[in-house]
Amino acid sequence: MNQPLSTEKIYNAQASNWLRSEKVLLSDFTARPRVLESLGNIEGQDILDFGCGEGYVSRMLLEAGVKSVFGVDSSAEMITQAQTMASELKLANANYAEGNAVTFDQFPQTSFDKAIAVFLFNYLTIEEMTQVMTRVHALLAPGGTFVFTVPHPCLPFMRAETPPFYFEHGKKTYLDGINQTFEGKIWRRDGIPVSVRCVHKNFSHYFEALAKAGFNSLPEVKELAVTDEHLAFDPKFFGPLKGYPLHVLFKVKAND
Ligand SMILES: C[S@@+](CC[C@H](N)C(=O)[O-])C[C@H]1O[C@@H](n2cnc3c(N)ncnc32)[C@H](O)[C@@H]1O
Repeated sequence: MNQPLSTEKIYNAQASNWLRSEKVLLSDFTARPRVLESLGNIEGQDILDFGCGEGYVSRMLLEAGVKSVFGVDSSAEMITQAQTMASELKLANANYAEGNAVTFDQFPQTSFDKAIAVFLFNYLTIEEMTQVMTRVHALLAPGGTFVFTVPHPCLPFMRAETPPFYFEHGKKTYLDGINQTFEGKIWRRDGIPVSVRCVHKNFSHYFEALAKAGFNSLPEVKELAVTDEHLAFDPKFFGPLKGYPLHVLFKVKAND
């Protein structure tokens, strides 16, 4: 049997399809604007972006007035793209490093006002996710906010394997697929699909991992889906997803 490609290989091979300066991917419409909204006031703040990819979200944050962004990603190609964009756009306050979020320890500062992980945890096991959350908790300033998004854990079991977004769960069920990798695809509006994967977790695992990492307050949880605005804007693209929960956004505060 063929070994599955490593996540680094997948992202190194498709980095050019991720590079963008405007909304292109489905989740650029359905999730990333909600991350920005959930962060609240970020002017003048230092933000940590785990699994930053080619830097699309960090550039959104800089546009919104943050003081600095530090991004970490395990794909060398994604980091090269992020650095090239930052230098082309003269974004002196965007810094990026190649590294595994689970083990990375070369942070430029000991504390950040806020942290994000936009679709990182779907590449990690529950144990790895807990380690990253523990690291985030240690790096957040008192009262700092952590916002992360993941594919909705029920989506693989609700939707057929059809565009513009799906994961293959094979014969695994919601309860017995824990820590199993489901391969998937998400589409860009121009018809190009990109490969994604989801190490399956149940809803409860996110709450348990946050508590183990030291986050003592209840997270805010939002189940994200296509909206009436999306459907009016491009019914052909967004229409097949009407009524399905696509992603989950968690927002949690570190202790004051
Ligand atoms: C779906 S992309 C999202 C990128 C970016 N956050 C965004 O929203 O545009 C997931 C990213 O997580 C990165 N990634 C996966 N596993 C990782 C790990 N263990 N450590 C750091 N980055 C990782 C991938 O290389 C990829 O760039």
